[in-house]
Amino acid sequence: MHSSQQRRQAIIVLDFGSQYSRLITRRIRECHVYSELVPANTTLAQLQQNEQLEIKGFILSGGPSSVYDENAPACDPAILHSGLPVLGICYGMHILAHQLGGHVAPASGRREYGPATIEVLTKTKQDTQTSRIFEGITASPAQTDPLGQTETLSTLRLPGWMSHGDSIDQLPPGFSVLARTESNPVAAIGSPEGLIGLQFHPEVTHTPHGKDMLRNFLFFICNCKANWTLSKVIEEAVEQIRERVGNERVICGLSGGVDSAVAALLVHKAIGDRLTCVFVDTGLLRAGEREQVVDTFSNHMQIPLVVVNARKRFVTKLADVIDPEQKRKIIGEEFIRVFEAEAERLEENVGPIKFLAQGTLYPDVIESTSHDTAETAKRIKTHHNVGGLPEDIAFALVEPLRMLFKDEVREIGLALDLPEEWVWRHPFPGPGLAIRIIGAVDEHRLETLRAADKILIEEIREADIYRELGQAFAVLTPLQSVGVMGDDRTYANVIAIRVVTSGDFMTADWARLEPDLLGRISNRLVNEIPEINRVVYDITSKPPATIEWE
Ligand code: XMP
Repeated sequence: MHSSQQRRQAIIVLDFGSQYSRLITRRIRECHVYSELVPANTTLAQLQQNEQLEIKGFILSGGPSSVYDENAPACDPAILHSGLPVLGICYGMHILAHQLGGHVAPASGRREYGPATIEVLTKTKQDTQTSRIFEGITASPAQTDPLGQTETLSTLRLPGWMSHGDSIDQLPPGFSVLARTESNPVAAIGSPEGLIGLQFHPEVTHTPHGKDMLRNFLFFICNCKANWTLSKVIEEAVEQIRERVGNERVICGLSGGVDSAVAALLVHKAIGDRLTCVFVDTGLLRAGEREQVVDTFSNHMQIPLVVVNARKRFVTKLADVIDPEQKRKIIGEEFIRVFEAEAERLEENVGPIKFLAQGTLYPDVIESTSHDTAETAKRIKTHHNVGGLPEDIAFALVEPLRMLFKDEVREIGLALDLPEEWVWRHPFPGPGLAIRIIGAVDEHRLETLRAADKILIEEIREADIYRELGQAFAVLTPLQSVGVMGDDRTYANVIAIRVVTSGDFMTADWARLEPDLLGRISNRLVNEIPEINRVVYDITSKPPATIEWE
């Protein structure tokens, strides 16, 4: 049993299916309070089983349902009556009111969507503890007093983002109205027990004071301490790894990406040389990638590293394969085979290896546990596991990043001395350059594409826009076209440039690169790579196209 001093203060966010649910969790963590996102039907009893957490309050997220829908998700009543503060946002507010005896008016066909002006009612300001949700928030004079009328001066007006159909027309017993909008007399409600409802979304940036409201909820209403800091996260992760691994050994596959690198750094900090990293050089990597892994991990960080040169194996297996799914299948299987053989070889040298460290992130965990997202998750392409290891691999897992978001992982990477270039690197698919060569893969085509990719990335870095972009890469097409260089006719390949901006890579837009930059890229590609004589720029968003071409 953990004493309350050791327990970590937490705000639990119940996910009613809003696209912003994760954002709420992240906003809270940005305030240095730990937060977890759990499915809407999680019970208080289930949550209390986690003795490591000291729950300080709950947030009920928004969601697409109406409380009158047949299978409308509800909140465990024990949570609402736990005596702990609860903040309901949008649908979360409706369900709070509905379950506590208020009345929700069904949408009369009209949705309120977009910006609204929230009027905070000053009369109730001193009345309840919950009105502290607006404490310390001041608006600019233009917002508070647009007409210079003195009676409006006492009313705080704030911009807020709305997205709802239903609204509350009868308060639950004990609640009072804290704010309204022009079209909605109930924009915020509160009860003396610390139950609050907001009709608008404080978690989005379109509600400029939203983060202040969340902060007020955390520190005034839930009495949280802001002590979930980066060094604490690292310290806790290291401690947990030590506890889990004991005196055993750990193996970790490095992919060249930030997640596996940070996972390895944490494990190394925890157990030192009992960790061995394995990097499989598939021959499908970008220019300099292998060297960078060796330099950073072996030379700079002094982490035991085994590099497996499997280039020949992969290229041989891929000979004449043109179907993209077939390529993925071959690469996936080959990768597993190489990794397992290496693990076996290592065990002969160092003794049994019980654990495998993986860079699984919190969004992956949420994806597989949330009943709302689990259904939509089915639609995510199966190929995204290619280049990873199967779930039934014969190791126990160590996943030190399981509760972290990508941004947090990057911060830890920086704190643990991972070079910036590595920390901010664009995602790279497991099957590597093989799915960026349309048609058959061979050594020569790989060399051509590697050279093109290098030029593209150099120019993008030179233009100082690398960090703004989601992904930037070249695609080698089998298409040949006629060109002229000097006095000579050429007949060479068309290369495509794909540069996208994206948040979560589920959707993406093509990047509007400056014409001069595109010109420089094109010139260099054609001048420096004899195999290329034409460059095209991909201007398709996702959907309907995918990011990769295969
Ligand atoms: P798509 O092409 O599906 O890509 O729009 C979305 C994101 O996933 C990456 N991707 C892969 N990653 N194995 C991976 O590990 C794969 O087979 C694979 N296919 C695509 C892609 O680079 C983008 O970031």
